[in-house]
Amino acid sequence: MADRVLRFGVIGLSRGFDLTRPTLARDPRVRLVAAADLRPEARAAFTAEFGAPAYDSAEALCADPEVEVVYIATPHQTHAALATLAARHGRHILLEKPMALDLAACRAIAAAAEAAGVQLVVGPSHGFDPPVAAAAGLVGGAAFGAARMVTAVTFTDFLYRPRRPEELDSARGGGVVFSQAVHQVDVVRRLVGRPVRSVRAATGVWDTARPTEGAYQAFLAFDGGASASLTYSGYGRYDTDALMGWTGETGAARDPDVHGLARRRLAGADEPALKAARAYGAAAASASAPVGHEHFGFVLVACERGDLRLTPHGVEAYGPDSRWTVDLPPPAATRHAVIDEVWDAVVGGRPPLHDGAWGAENLAVCLAILRSAAEDREIAIAELETRP
Ligand SMILES: NC(=O)c1ccc[n+]([C@@H]2O[C@H](COP(=O)([O-])OP(=O)(O)OC[C@H]3O[C@@H](n4cnc5c(N)ncnc54)[C@H](O)[C@@H]3O)[C@@H](O)[C@H]2O)c1
Repeated sequence: MADRVLRFGVIGLSRGFDLTRPTLARDPRVRLVAAADLRPEARAAFTAEFGAPAYDSAEALCADPEVEVVYIATPHQTHAALATLAARHGRHILLEKPMALDLAACRAIAAAAEAAGVQLVVGPSHGFDPPVAAAAGLVGGAAFGAARMVTAVTFTDFLYRPRRPEELDSARGGGVVFSQAVHQVDVVRRLVGRPVRSVRAATGVWDTARPTEGAYQAFLAFDGGASASLTYSGYGRYDTDALMGWTGETGAARDPDVHGLARRRLAGADEPALKAARAYGAAAASASAPVGHEHFGFVLVACERGDLRLTPHGVEAYGPDSRWTVDLPPPAATRHAVIDEVWDAVVGGRPPLHDGAWGAENLAVCLAILRSAAEDREIAIAELETRP
């Protein structure tokens, strides 16, 4: 098995790819053998960096016999068509979150992967973060018992990063519920380990210049009686990285004295030009070494016999009589757990946790958040017809 590598082809060379790129480039189990993007400068940068072909169409990438796993990192609305294309070509699939924009598309993707006999992993997302895995490993054990109540709080500047028009249009998959709640839901589902039964939520659309959800609060009830409260604001004021020792979401150090940068950059700027200038191939590729693990803000799990707080450096454990920490040293590059899942599935034949059904259920909870806010009532997940 020593010579075995996964031959990855990437569709979509921008922000999502750039965040995963350090792991794909460093992990000895991965070789980047091809890419596809609509932007010539991204293709040129990929070929220069990896010495591999970059196509102007996803079809050409999927047809390249060198490609074994297709990593799809294009905008949400393209996921269903590109994932089914990859499956038709017999390629394994790593599909960015959210899996798709509706549950019918999720089902079509999962069915295409199953029919083709290929593995499907939905990620990266913060449910893969090592502190989440470490805490999930403690939940349910003798010391802590089952998770009863999870509190997750994330405040960012998400809404003021340069966006494509559809990212500011909820009807086309815009707003923080599709792009960000999917992370928080992934984290709390992994920690509780039971299906979500119902959701009650409110959403906030507070900036008329960016008329999509920028904030939400949601109460999730799980089978078995556990609950989770999720709070998110992307309005670029308070920042929960302050609670994480100024380690940012990607595990990189942040300067606590910098405040409001995203909003200032955007003010008066040509937004598409600003976005293009920061994309892979136009800007210097992101390179800062992590000082900790990726995270998605404050997460505290109250279990039957103890509490677990997730940090970028591991897990703080609080029992009735003592407290201690589970230290997880900073990784050389984040997101190795994503490769672990793809490797285990493709090489080891072990079904991934973040499979099509998992990705669909994450999306179902997000759709329930939107529907609960719109209809001002609790939404049972069963109403959304997610489960097979
Ligand atoms: N997991 C994470 O932490 C994370 C972070 C950022 C983005 N993402 C996800 O990655 C996806 C892309 O987001 P982004 O912010 O990088 O978008 P983006 O707009 O910055 O980039 C999209 C890229 O895809 C290319 N593209 C679009 N359609 C294509 C097609 N049909 N064939 C080939 N290339 C195509 C574009 O040219 C562009 O380079 C989204 O689903 C998003 O949710 C995930």
